[in-house]
Amino acid sequence: MFGWKLLLLSSLGALVTGDGINHVELYNQALSLLSAVPQFVNQQNINNDNQVIMSVPMDYTIEYQIALNEEITANLSSDKLLAYELLKESSELGNIEASYLLGDINLYGNYTYPKNGTEALKYYKRVTEIEPNATAYFNTGFIYSTGLFGEIEIDQAKANLYYNFAFNQGDLRAGMVLGYRFLNGISVKTDCERSEFYYQSVADRLRDFYDSSPLGGPHLDSYSLRLSDFKDGVYGKGVDGLKSSLTRRNNRYDYLLSGSYSGNEDPIFDSLYWMLINEYEGSYLKKRNFTNALNDATYVREHALKLKNMIEIDKKYAARCIYILGKLYLRGEGVQTDYEKALEYFKESTEFYPLSEVYNEMGLIYEFGPDSMYDNEKAGKCYKKATKSANGIYNYGRWLMNKGNQTGIDYIEVASTYRDLEAIYTLNELNSANDKVSCSNSVSMLKFFIEKFDPIVTSLEWSFFEMIYNRPDNALVGYAMAAEQGFESAQSSAAYLLYQLPDLFEEMPTITTKERLEMAIAYLTRSSLSSNIESACVLGDIYCEMQDYEKASAAYDLAATKRSSQAHFNLGWLHEHGFGNKMDFNMAKRHYDLALSHNSKAYLIVKLALLKLRFKSFINDITGGTVNGISKDDEISSKLSGWAAWVDIYKKVRNSGPVNQEQVIENEEFEDSEVDFGEFDDIIVLCLIMLVLASFILVHYLNRRRLNQVGNQPNADNNNNDNRGGFNFEVNIIAI
Ligand SMILES: *[C@@H]1O[C@H](CO)[C@@H](O)[C@H](O)[C@H]1NC(C)=O
Ligand SMILES: *[C@@H]1O[C@H](CO)[C@@H](O)[C@H](O)[C@H]1NC(C)=O
Ligand SMILES: *[C@@H]1O[C@H](CO)[C@@H](O)[C@H](O)[C@H]1NC(C)=O
Repeated sequence: MFGWKLLLLSSLGALVTGDGINHVELYNQALSLLSAVPQFVNQQNINNDNQVIMSVPMDYTIEYQIALNEEITANLSSDKLLAYELLKESSELGNIEASYLLGDINLYGNYTYPKNGTEALKYYKRVTEIEPNATAYFNTGFIYSTGLFGEIEIDQAKANLYYNFAFNQGDLRAGMVLGYRFLNGISVKTDCERSEFYYQSVADRLRDFYDSSPLGGPHLDSYSLRLSDFKDGVYGKGVDGLKSSLTRRNNRYDYLLSGSYSGNEDPIFDSLYWMLINEYEGSYLKKRNFTNALNDATYVREHALKLKNMIEIDKKYAARCIYILGKLYLRGEGVQTDYEKALEYFKESTEFYPLSEVYNEMGLIYEFGPDSMYDNEKAGKCYKKATKSANGIYNYGRWLMNKGNQTGIDYIEVASTYRDLEAIYTLNELNSANDKVSCSNSVSMLKFFIEKFDPIVTSLEWSFFEMIYNRPDNALVGYAMAAEQGFESAQSSAAYLLYQLPDLFEEMPTITTKERLEMAIAYLTRSSLSSNIESACVLGDIYCEMQDYEKASAAYDLAATKRSSQAHFNLGWLHEHGFGNKMDFNMAKRHYDLALSHNSKAYLIVKLALLKLRFKSFINDITGGTVNGISKDDEISSKLSGWAAWVDIYKKVRNSGPVNQEQVIENEEFEDSEVDFGEFDDIIVLCLIMLVLASFILVHYLNRRRLNQVGNQPNADNNNNDNRGGFNFEVNIIAI
């Protein structure tokens, strides 16, 4: 791959052949060269509205990959080239760390090196031939199970073997993969008990991690999201009401603008409070900033203490700000841990307003703080006052149980319904011990618990930033890994990166390889089995495009059982045209009606489809066609019964009395020209749709064009797009 090898070897001659140089020194030299460059070069694409732009290539070919790799290689500095050679030498001489780093570089593209699956596999194997290494085993398993989308031959038996090695060395991700595989029967036989075993052992380790973090638990800043949600889902906002996976707000000021407060008095602390929350909680694009949060909270506290007559709403804001100040001291964030001070601030906060969360934290200090502050009775009293917060309910229940009071479990149960993590874990533990929970319920609770720890068990944050920094092919590795681990959101995202349906008005089908399409289908299938109706619809659309209408029907059926309007509409269409099933106008109508009943926004499009269907059914009926027509029962209940009555009358006239010559001729004409009528009717409906939607199309098109132009703007630092001429790009936008 690297054409400069010879040249470098001669310049390295002294190093390689000299007797004093060993593999450790070679490795260290490489590291010192690499330490001078950042692991990743980060450039965001930002548009004029201060929004980050994420572009996703739609097409993929081997030539594209080769061109991309060549471009990346051409941009490597001489130091990086040298470092790579040194690592190779060191690895040849048996250095494990060098082999491991080369494996990573070739799998993830660290230090902006080009990736190469064959090489990654070789180096990880070299590591584990010398000593067992959990991560190297896991990555080897990952390479075999995905084949890196066409680079390597997929081998699930080997994948399972390596995942097992990794699990036995304590790798949490491998435990998740195995749990997920046994749960769903993916290249193993379905076995709930084994699945539970793997999930339980991962959950136990994460529980330990939870307990070892500061009081109140770790911050779990999730990046478990569906990429398609950045453009409001694959089918646009609101279709089928699939809940967005984007849970972390970019900016809390929108609360203020939308007028969350409607009292008569003007609060003075509201914007300060939201500013503080932005700093303390961060967002997808912005890390938490404890120092700023500390400054903001201190400022509010000082002002609040000086104020005499505060209005109610400001008291609440002040209480919350001082609560966060206490938390910063309790957890040692932006400042040295100081339990005494934390407790003092919490008490002060409750004097402004009695927040449930604050009593919960106070209880934790009395129970788990330094010995000098221990007071179990006070802890109990605090928890009792904290039962408006999920974790407060849990702690009160736990505290009661510790005192031998069995009603505690009821509290824990309530807390678990509010999705308190500790409550979910504990309840499952208690129920399993008493055999009070089925295997599948237990697994779904454990899976829920574990997946809240995505920052610990995945590289999803890294993947997200790789998207932002315009390296979607790197990001894919992280999303696919999490997809293997069973994250529904990652399955959806990986599928989105692997294959996208062409847009409504794009005539070009997406170009890709067989392996990538198959992988996308596999991930969409898994995602749709976890109730993602959007994935089920996309899957159906892909099968339609492949003209596999039976599988398409099955996919839509799955989504339809989850009340997907889109799926019902598509099922109606399949029935109407007899794709996958026998042509059946009655079934088609039922599905169109259901599509409408699940989503009133689809009114126009469904009505047009119904109109067209009725026309076809009518032609079918009067020509004595064999297709199951729209039945009378359905007609009577429908609003368009006028039309139905007319059909009825026509039929009656036709069937009664002696058939006269004229009618026979008419019938024959109808039969002969049936096809023409079908097309005629299509054209009318098409015209109608075009007319009605013209403005929508225009707006949509203009918008897309604008986005594409922004997305493809030549950028001085980023000429990545040069080799991608003629490629389709999907553009998603995130507000900063
Ligand atoms: C695997 O090997 C690398 C390189 O020696 C080391 O840094 C890493 O900690 C090892 N991982 C595990 C889980 O042992
Ligand atoms: C390479 O990047 C991946 C993804 O961020 C990371 O998990 C891994 O630790 C990096 N490898 C090294 C050797 O730094
Ligand atoms: C990866 O490396 C192998 C040699 O190990 C080479 O044959 C192959 O062409 C490389 N693949 C890419 C995509 O560069």
